[in-house]
Amino acid sequence: MTQDEMKKAAGWAALEFVTPGSIVGVGTGSTVNHFIDALGSVRDQIKGAVSSSEASTERLAALGIPVFDLNDISELSVYVDGADEIDGSMAMIKGGGAALTREKIVAAVADKFVCIVDGSKTVDVLGAFPLPVEVIPMAREYVARELARLGGTPVYREGVITDNGNHILDVHGLSITEPKVLETRINAIVGVVTNGLFAERGADVLLIGTPDGVVRKGG
Ligand code: A5P
Repeated sequence: MTQDEMKKAAGWAALEFVTPGSIVGVGTGSTVNHFIDALGSVRDQIKGAVSSSEASTERLAALGIPVFDLNDISELSVYVDGADEIDGSMAMIKGGGAALTREKIVAAVADKFVCIVDGSKTVDVLGAFPLPVEVIPMAREYVARELARLGGTPVYREGVITDNGNHILDVHGLSITEPKVLETRINAIVGVVTNGLFAERGADVLLIGTPDGVVRKGG
């Protein structure tokens, strides 16, 4: 089974959490793209979606799924998204696709976060995947110096501008044993918009695509 087939299995398994008549929170990335395809197969049974990126919005619209502005809805029962890494406490590193800020906003509104991954994303300790940090462009070098003081090696993701018009620093060399503490600490640096640690609001359900089928944790 290929990695993409495992992503697809996890993406389609998440349909189980979609309530008929509801608006669904939709993340970003290659695993979520499979979930969007799955949503397309039930589009007549849902009201629509709230999206975490321009890329997902385009894909949803192409399948005829109405996309709502988050400001126009007051509740969201479920948010489905991938992750770059997820640990045993359901804390994640996200933002490999540079959509971390909108992802964190939609996740904050949702009652339930369903994380969909292939088996390569589960880890004991977060940090082998460089931690993305979205920064206001004029603060980039200041924030990089502050991140270096925390023990990481920040690398500017050149050529990438987020959907919010900002820059991304990818922090290499971290071994993140206290994700909630680090998430709060990085967010306190002036000029940081968001960091890719999703620990304060981790996943509630994890669906892992494996060669033996989809393994479920939580929920
Ligand atoms: C997007 O910014 C990310 O948070 C994605 O959710 C994450 O990178 C997982 O992406 P894939 O499903 O493409 O691996």
